[in-house]
Amino acid sequence: MKLSTLTRKKSFERIIKDSEELGSEHSIHGLKKTLSVVDLTSFGIAAIIGAGIFSTIGTAAFHGGPAVSLLFVFTAIACGFSALCYAQFASTIPVSGSAYTYAYASLGELIAWIIGWDLAMEYGIGNIAVAISWSDYFTSLLGQYGVLFPEWLSMDFLTARRGFTAVKALLDQNIPLEQMAQHGIGAQVLEAYHAFVKAPQIFGTAIVMDIPALAINVIVTWIVYIGIKESKRVANLMVLLKVLVVLLVIGVGAFYIHPENWVPFAPHGMTGVMKGVSGVFFAYIGFDAISTTAEECKNPKRDLPRGMFYALGICTVLYILISLVLTGIVPYFNLQVGDPLSYVFGPEGANLPWVSMIVGASAVVALFSVLLVFQMGQPRIWMVMGRDGLLPPIFARVHPKYKTPSFSTIVTGVVVGVSCLFMNLTEVTDLTSIGTLFAFLLVCLGTLFMDSSKAKFKVTYINGRWTFPIVYLFITYFLFFSNNNHFQTWGGEGWGDQVILLIFFFFMTVLAVMSVLKKLSLIPLLGIATCSYLMTELGVVNWLRFGIWLLVGLVIYFSYSMRKSHLNNTP
Ligand code: ALA
Repeated sequence: MKLSTLTRKKSFERIIKDSEELGSEHSIHGLKKTLSVVDLTSFGIAAIIGAGIFSTIGTAAFHGGPAVSLLFVFTAIACGFSALCYAQFASTIPVSGSAYTYAYASLGELIAWIIGWDLAMEYGIGNIAVAISWSDYFTSLLGQYGVLFPEWLSMDFLTARRGFTAVKALLDQNIPLEQMAQHGIGAQVLEAYHAFVKAPQIFGTAIVMDIPALAINVIVTWIVYIGIKESKRVANLMVLLKVLVVLLVIGVGAFYIHPENWVPFAPHGMTGVMKGVSGVFFAYIGFDAISTTAEECKNPKRDLPRGMFYALGICTVLYILISLVLTGIVPYFNLQVGDPLSYVFGPEGANLPWVSMIVGASAVVALFSVLLVFQMGQPRIWMVMGRDGLLPPIFARVHPKYKTPSFSTIVTGVVVGVSCLFMNLTEVTDLTSIGTLFAFLLVCLGTLFMDSSKAKFKVTYINGRWTFPIVYLFITYFLFFSNNNHFQTWGGEGWGDQVILLIFFFFMTVLAVMSVLKKLSLIPLLGIATCSYLMTELGVVNWLRFGIWLLVGLVIYFSYSMRKSHLNNTP
């Protein structure tokens, strides 16, 4: 195997030719340059606001308390750096595509494969999280109308078993169920316990599964399969609905805030706040989708970065306000629920059933639209990878009548469907976040080394030779010398996290040296530093899972894709 095989690039001409074969939707000639900055911002908000703000914010607030609002600011900054790099990446190649396509033309086959493999975590696994969250809102909405869905048919096995174990431990100490709340067992954990106890058993195993999550996935897969698309009007209505419902929560909720709930502001300190990283980052995922419209913008150079920044900025303000309102209405430790936005207007919070009902119904519709976008994105990446020969040709098969990537769509549907029956929201959010952060990191890294002469938008160059070493010194101080650093005692329980931080430190050291030697551009460097730092907060177990995922990807690449790549036939 030659090194040049791993870095071979797909030529611009070939990418354009392929894109034309994919039909006008993807072709440079079929696309009209109609998108303005308002369209781009709206498109961004459509992809960003979803399960993150409707669901995962609850667990983040549970761990971090009101201070989770500050995490939204830090995460938005990290996303901002990546957004700029994405914009440069996307405006280099004159077709609408994904980071996989841009990487194939600028960074070579291996990196493109890793990004493509990794994007499955953003779209595919991300959609499992959105489906689970949809199910939470749907069942609680039904509950408000008096329709009670059995708990064991609307929950995942892991959550139920964890609830059972936690409650059983207290029951064994003769603490009755009625007194569980005094021992830190919230309503949701009790619900999980009941689901587990009431579930039928087969060969001694409790049967617990999330049927509504599966059902919505089947519906979405079918819609995507037959190729129905949201019209621009429906898409705009969705954005309006989402923003209005978030404003409703903020506007009405503000009157029910008990400021004493904000004290202490960070009940579990920085450690607690950082436990919310994956949930908070998840809430921002999607802004990168704006970059895929590079060729449809009236003025990509000006509008692409602006659209991303406006969308990120608007969502950041909304998210900060929402986190303050939620933690102001009910104590933060009650927020570990799947539907926090309607929960805070329920009997345990502001007790406004009509708001709870409106929020619940809007969430069901809004999350559905996020599901559609993600479920459409995943098969298209696989289809392109199939066309390039990196996946078996069947992945590139297009339905003769519906003109959709039929096989890839069904595989996506089956994988997401089976997984959302059994998987836990926290676990899938963590996986999505680590995978997406890694993809962002690669895009920032790619921006440093790609040939930017064809880019319509370029990240402003600030010489990193002197500036990044200062950042590096700050990182070094923060990691090893600050009061709460993780290295005060070596080894012990936290050794895994220490290893991860050392990997991060080593990586930063390499970047600092290179920034001095090669005068690297500061903004991508900051993107890499912030994204990789956020990755360090996701814990050893996630790193291992993600490592296995990447390893499987590399095995497939070296045993199949590299040999079958269509670039093998290119002189
Ligand atoms: N940001 C998207 C959501 O929260 C992925 O659903």
